[in-house]
Amino acid sequence: MRLYINIDHVATVRQARLTDEPDPVRAAVLAELGGADGITVHLREDRRHIQDRDVRLLMETVRTGVNLELAATSEIVALACELRPMQATLVPEKREEVTTEGGLALSEAGHLKATKAALDRLSAAGIRTSLFVDPDDASLRASVDLGVDAVELHTGEYANADPTKRTEQIARLSRAAALASKLSLAVHAGHGLTYENVQPVAAIPEIEELNIGHSVIARSVFTGLEAAVREMGDIVRRARATT
Ligand code: PXP
Repeated sequence: MRLYINIDHVATVRQARLTDEPDPVRAAVLAELGGADGITVHLREDRRHIQDRDVRLLMETVRTGVNLELAATSEIVALACELRPMQATLVPEKREEVTTEGGLALSEAGHLKATKAALDRLSAAGIRTSLFVDPDDASLRASVDLGVDAVELHTGEYANADPTKRTEQIARLSRAAALASKLSLAVHAGHGLTYENVQPVAAIPEIEELNIGHSVIARSVFTGLEAAVREMGDIVRRARATT
């Protein structure tokens, strides 16, 4: 199990004042010292938090690996191919959203075509590819057809579910993880995971990577980033050790 820490919200605080602090590049160092297995950043088309400069510097300084989240648009895909992160995760993007709202709409022909074109370019640049998808059979089967290396299962519905519906949502994620693995896709998961709700997701045996941002960055305001990452890492690894 790998724990990737999404540091977008360090940049969110910086961009609130359009200044040069706090620096996500420094945050990545602390996340790694806290035991992060990788650093995730989302370079949005609107550049609302992470900037091109951040990704360029992270590519030079991160010692684990960079997972770049991006939309399948020509400009950002070209930048990814130039910078060559270890992994690229394609995500849907809407200007008006507060955060990524759902998995990729692979049932729509237009989206499918753009996704395929982006994946082909990223793979040709030697970048490991992943698709952020909802945990349903159709999305997983479409992902296999697209030839992607991994899928990141959207855990947002689980995270937002009424507590009485959590078991149902975990069963859905477990079924999706098992099917993805059977289809030879590497299985990642993320979105909305917190110190309080991550345990049952981390315990799903097929999941090999978690991407967690907001909860860890929020806690780091009080405890420091290194301690916040270490605490999340302990919960995740303990969950896996008991399965
Ligand atoms: N995975 C993906 C694909 C995301 O878009 C995000 C949010 O940027 C995350 C994981 C992390 O979500 P959160 O900040 O809620 O932990």
